[in-house]
Amino acid sequence: MAYNYKEVAEAAEALKTIFEKSEDKRSVLREPILKNLYSHIKDMPAEDRGKFGAEVNALKTEVESWVANSEAKEDLKPIDVTAPFDINTDQSKRPHLLSSQFGTIHPLMSESKEVLDIFYRMGFEVVESREIDDDYHMFGSLNFPEGHPARDDYDTFMTIDGLIAPAHTSNMQNRVLKARKGRLEQGEAISVVIPGRVFRNEDLDARHEHTFYQLEGVYVDKGINAGHLIATLKTFLQEYYGQELEVKTQPFYFPFTEPSFEFALSCPFCKKAGCATCGHTGWIELLGCGMIHPNVLKMADIDPTVYTGFAWGGGIDRLVMMKHDIEDIRHFESGKLEFLRQF
Ligand code: DAH
Repeated sequence: MAYNYKEVAEAAEALKTIFEKSEDKRSVLREPILKNLYSHIKDMPAEDRGKFGAEVNALKTEVESWVANSEAKEDLKPIDVTAPFDINTDQSKRPHLLSSQFGTIHPLMSESKEVLDIFYRMGFEVVESREIDDDYHMFGSLNFPEGHPARDDYDTFMTIDGLIAPAHTSNMQNRVLKARKGRLEQGEAISVVIPGRVFRNEDLDARHEHTFYQLEGVYVDKGINAGHLIATLKTFLQEYYGQELEVKTQPFYFPFTEPSFEFALSCPFCKKAGCATCGHTGWIELLGCGMIHPNVLKMADIDPTVYTGFAWGGGIDRLVMMKHDIEDIRHFESGKLEFLRQF
């Protein structure tokens, strides 16, 4: 378009050059050249102001149409905002993605599946645990009196609101019992296993990790005794290690079981001859267990004079370490590919 005023004609030319050279076509609209023309209007002789102003407006409209046309011409492909890169990026310039075929299932996950399969076949139902909980489920419902020193064995992490990263999967007992108490009244047993991730404030070494996995088991019915507990765990362990094993219990203390036991199995590797895995004792202490304390049943509205039950809780990491001869528990959470690719 031809402009009569020299200032406007020159500005039009300058803007055209800027527009053609710039990558961001829209930036021409922010050019001070245009703004300066507008501020120049007031300096013009009164009789020219109207015409000059009209030309500046016309120039502005022209520049806007350049921008609009340039955008309309671009063939914009849709952008997938969830893509890890702009979907319009040329194939050769895209980040190199690791194909899923190079991934492997984490040994804790594949091994948990095997453990759960065995319990499933034994008639147990699987309920997942949770990774944040409250004081009642972590302690109160499990017969830990307020301020009792036994709480110190479960030193873990807490939010400023007092929520707790559970230090054991026993935090699920009250929920599981309460939700299934109706079954008992219908003459059925409660039989549940609960896998879960647990957390502890630990000094880390080859046998202690701040984050690990446990498997809790809960069984309640009429007439249940410690013999059922021992038989259940022995059956599971013989299936898992694929061989006959001996087991033994020794007295222990947990607030939520009475009596409480520490449960050991004969070393599946050296058959009690003594080796590095069992610390040359022939036995491996595996988990805590016992008969569910009457107060824990009462807390779930189950009458302990009618029903009894057993429970156990043990580390899944420990089982897997033994099975695969893994020497350091910290490998599991390390994310080290050299470790993970062996499974
Ligand atoms: N929660 C215990 C721990 O982490 C293990 C345990 C012991 C669980 C006895 C139970 C049980 O259910 O009956 O040390």
